[in-house]
Amino acid sequence: MNKPTLAEKTRGDFPLISEYSNIDNNLIYFDHAATSQKPKKVLQTIENYYSRTNANVHRGAHQLSAMATEAFEEARQITAEFIGAKNSREIVFTRNATEAINLVAHSWGNSTIKAGDEILLTIMEHHSNLVPWQLLSQRTNCVLKHIGITDNGELDIADLKSKLTNKTKLISLVHISNTLGCCNPIQEVASLAKQVDALVLVDACQSLAHQKIDLNKLDIDFLVGSAHKFCGPTGIGFLWGKEKILEIMPPFLGGGEMIEEAFLEYSTWGDLPHKFEAGTPAIGEAIAMGSAIQYIQNLGLKNIHQWEKILTQHLFENLQCIPDIKILGPTPKQQNNRGALATFSVKGLHSNDISEILDTKGICIRSGHHCCQPLHRYYGLNSTARASLSFTSTIQEINLFSEALSETIGFLKSNS
Ligand code: ALA
Repeated sequence: MNKPTLAEKTRGDFPLISEYSNIDNNLIYFDHAATSQKPKKVLQTIENYYSRTNANVHRGAHQLSAMATEAFEEARQITAEFIGAKNSREIVFTRNATEAINLVAHSWGNSTIKAGDEILLTIMEHHSNLVPWQLLSQRTNCVLKHIGITDNGELDIADLKSKLTNKTKLISLVHISNTLGCCNPIQEVASLAKQVDALVLVDACQSLAHQKIDLNKLDIDFLVGSAHKFCGPTGIGFLWGKEKILEIMPPFLGGGEMIEEAFLEYSTWGDLPHKFEAGTPAIGEAIAMGSAIQYIQNLGLKNIHQWEKILTQHLFENLQCIPDIKILGPTPKQQNNRGALATFSVKGLHSNDISEILDTKGICIRSGHHCCQPLHRYYGLNSTARASLSFTSTIQEINLFSEALSETIGFLKSNS
């Protein structure tokens, strides 16, 4: 008998996937890049927290508060170990990756960046890694430069080298693009950045559930992630920053929890990471993020990556057989470790029409600009369709999706 695939082993863990399948075997969720589904373990953690431990953290002397604080701080430790951070003091809980980037742009940016300083971004960035820097540029008159992409849709390292100068203070880029699917060579970028003493911020939203990230192997300064992309709840994410940099950064938001002492006229700041965590945090969600990380670690990111590589290869082989489809980003042959997603456009058709018809067949994909409008503009496209996979995806689902997509394109073309 064949060994069960990772999908066969895990689908039963996800109520939304397994319960729909039980009803009519008809749901194909290929929108994991937008948000992942949640396993029972994570849902139970949230329920357990609110039904047995609910109390505020770092405040009360009562035992519930002590239990909540312990679980909350354990989640921080789990998050730190997940990415190879040296110390859990380097993990700041935020609402999501967007808030984490805004934190850096405000706190580090406002206190460090001067007029004429340069920040290097890429044209493939999600809006969350473009807009905070545009706002910083409006506040400081710093210069934003954007690294281009190659014909394959990979980061253009030659362009990066040509744009890197002694004025570059930061390179902020995505690890795996949510649209191109390319996996950027972070260590190479970091080595180049260090030649001019620039910092590096990595948006790891699309990689944390798919590939191992080990900070010990990456000479970077900040990394951000959102739990809902890696089987955790919405409303919680994190910023990792090097302790010595976080130490000198001023607070982002002010309020309770982040102070050491407050007076009527001024206050002093708490220690890391609390200096950056004003107000009551998303406690149950942070604890559930810890659960999600443990769930992924139990599966093993090596196993996940291996299975998703097979799936991605199959997805591309199928899509490449459908006439008139243009897929963005490198193929799995061109880039072996690319992300488990395919973003495509079909000549003469709007991606919304494609996704709406697929939806009537129980297939969920995303269409639009995927919060990457500048990248779409670069390709001369208003919108694209995107199928994004996870370790719960199957070869059979990819085949059903491809057949349905082929039929949908045929139908729309015959009616256009
Ligand atoms: N960034 C998310 C996506 O790519 C929302 O769909």
